Amino acid sequence: MKPSRASQGTALVTGGAKRIGQAIAIALAGAGYDIAIHYNSSRPEAQETAALITRQGVRCEIFPCDLQRETAVRALIRQVQTRFPDLNVLINSASLFRPSGLSSADLPSFHGHFSVNLIAPYLLSCEFARLCKTGHIINLLDTDIVKYRTSHFPYLLSKKALAEFTQMAAVALAPKIRVNGICPGLILPPADRSEKYLNKRALGIPLKRRGDPRQIAKAALYLLESEFLTGQFIFNDGGEHLI
Ligand SMILES: NC(=O)c1ccc[n+]([C@@H]2O[C@H](COP(=O)([O-])OP(=O)(O)OC[C@H]3O[C@@H](n4cnc5c(N)ncnc54)[C@H](OP(=O)(O)O)[C@@H]3O)[C@@H](O)[C@H]2O)c1
Repeated sequence: MKPSRASQGTALVTGGAKRIGQAIAIALAGAGYDIAIHYNSSRPEAQETAALITRQGVRCEIFPCDLQRETAVRALIRQVQTRFPDLNVLINSASLFRPSGLSSADLPSFHGHFSVNLIAPYLLSCEFARLCKTGHIINLLDTDIVKYRTSHFPYLLSKKALAEFTQMAAVALAPKIRVNGICPGLILPPADRSEKYLNKRALGIPLKRRGDPRQIAKAALYLLESEFLTGQFIFNDGGEHLI
């Protein structure tokens, strides 16, 4: 274990047990933040990530919460702040991503996507502002927020709404809290898609290659360090949003 050092504060990373959320949690730990990892179903992965982070010489604890349960979401920031009174960063990375077109009028899917991808970040941001007073919120968006793809209709609609929320919250919570967004492109395949599928799609974007979760984490660190940025989106997508 590395020796402990002065903390930069504490970052709560939702969906931080694995994939992009995990990469962000590890990178922030490397920058000296104590880490609160939120998870839902991935308890073993959350425990493994916490062990990895603790070895970096910062504190790390894990917090379960189903982001579709409003009461539990409302309680999460308080629970984290009780353990980490210097909570000053909220990363909204947890997300639901399921195929569902418009014609199916799939209301449960609509509610599910909006609960996890918009209402939870909204409630967490409100509680963060109320209890923590100062700090930084980063919302994980999607390169497709500037497009009109319809195969994941409720998902994309919820991310477009989260993008609008990011900018409105940047105004509403200034000057004490900055609110920014990261728009990943082709980083990791979803559960129903292969690596091969993603590699093939990557040939069609300007940089002709996939990204990496560590590049998303770097963007998060850049936003945290850039004290004059608020209401900003970083498209970390190899130029995909341009075509
Ligand atoms: N992967 C990409 O290439 C890509 C591309 C564009 C945008 N993004 C965005 O970047 C962010 C991270 O991407 P990712 O691929 O790492 O995300 P992901 O694997 O699809 O989801 C991250 C986590 O969200 C959590 N989650 C889902 N439903 C939940 C619920 N009801 N309550 C609480 N947590 C819930 C899950 O936690 P548990 O496992 O603990 O249940 C899951 O591990 C997301 O916001 C995503 O939309 C990613």
